[in-house]
Amino acid sequence: PIINVTTRDGHSRAIEGKPGRSLMENLRAGGIEEILALCGGCCSCATCHVYVDEAWSAALPPMSEDEDDLLSTSGAREGNSRLSCQIPFGPALDGIEVTVAPED
Ligand code: FES
Repeated sequence: PIINVTTRDGHSRAIEGKPGRSLMENLRAGGIEEILALCGGCCSCATCHVYVDEAWSAALPPMSEDEDDLLSTSGAREGNSRLSCQIPFGPALDGIEVTVAPED
């Protein structure tokens, strides 16, 4: 399954994702190093912040209170903000479009 990602410099890339890993792990494995993921995916750093194309909102798992709280601390939060470590990746998200959020 494919992840379409737009990096901070505005370039788009398609990454082959592995099911069973989070979206964050797939982005990093695909070489998107600007996703720092400093906390390793435990929902405490917000350096895995992405904007998910609205067309995919319904396919995403609901946001936990922790994710919501952490995103609230970001000045770059938008209506389609998510922490990519909190999104399990699989075939249902094949073709998803995400944009790396600006550094906060
Ligand atoms: Fe730290 Fe997602 S990797 S919150």
